[in-house]
Amino acid sequence: MPITIKKGDEIAAMRVAGRLASEVLDFITPMVIPGVTTGELDRLCHDYMVDVQGTIPAPLHYAPPGYPPYPKSICTSINQQICHGIPGERVLKDGDIVNLDITVIKDGFHGDTSRTFLVGDVSIAARHLTEVTFECMWLGIDQVRPGARVGDIGAVIQRHAHANGYSVVHEYCGHGIGREFHEDPQIMHFGTAGTGVSFVPGMIFTIEPMINAGRRHVRQLGDGWTIVTRDRSLSAQWEHTVLVTETGHEVLTVSAGARPRPSSLPGKP
Ligand code: MF3
Ligand code: CO
Ligand code: CO
Repeated sequence: MPITIKKGDEIAAMRVAGRLASEVLDFITPMVIPGVTTGELDRLCHDYMVDVQGTIPAPLHYAPPGYPPYPKSICTSINQQICHGIPGERVLKDGDIVNLDITVIKDGFHGDTSRTFLVGDVSIAARHLTEVTFECMWLGIDQVRPGARVGDIGAVIQRHAHANGYSVVHEYCGHGIGREFHEDPQIMHFGTAGTGVSFVPGMIFTIEPMINAGRRHVRQLGDGWTIVTRDRSLSAQWEHTVLVTETGHEVLTVSAGARPRPSSLPGKP
């Protein structure tokens, strides 16, 4: 899948898709509490997307080469699950962290965003991992402007994760997005500044770092989708879809409930 450069109408459609994806997370936030099952969260999000928004849940039946068709409408990844957790009978309990990853299709264009939620009373260690991962995403977003490169994003994310004693997942990365769910370029969350694809206005891609409290290595469960940390350490993730503009960037997956960039983060006025 080549890199696509989006023009006026396509950018407008991607803005709508991005906002709608973020609004699904706003909608589901009050329901992410101890006692709910991930299957219930999936059903609520599915019905909101289809019946209220008129969007298509992109994960449902998504089947890239080498994968069985994904059976649900959202991804729910709990604790040591890194990504692609399949909703089901599992009950969220006090102290869990859970990433909800939403991708909608509206008028043929995709919006992709995820947040990590704290369920009830969460340990300081899990809260810290979740916060640092959020900062990693924003430090990556800060890099995006014409002429910057993919490696600039990876370098700042990796540096911040390592400075906090965490590791960066290598096997899964951000991606171009548009009419296709996963387009080029791949946006690695590690690497070397000044290397890789250069950004030009009209490129749209996700930044979605997966940060582990322990070692970076991953294992896939027998369901063919769920990815967990090999050492069973906790993992967190946040994701935004970002447009390269003439002067910098615009985050497309924004809505009333989206958490803003932390003002305490260095690097921006
Ligand atoms: N939303 C995920 C991403 O950020 C991809 C999920 S694929 C699925 O790229 F099939 F598991 F939903
Ligand atoms: Co994505
Ligand atoms: Co996603």
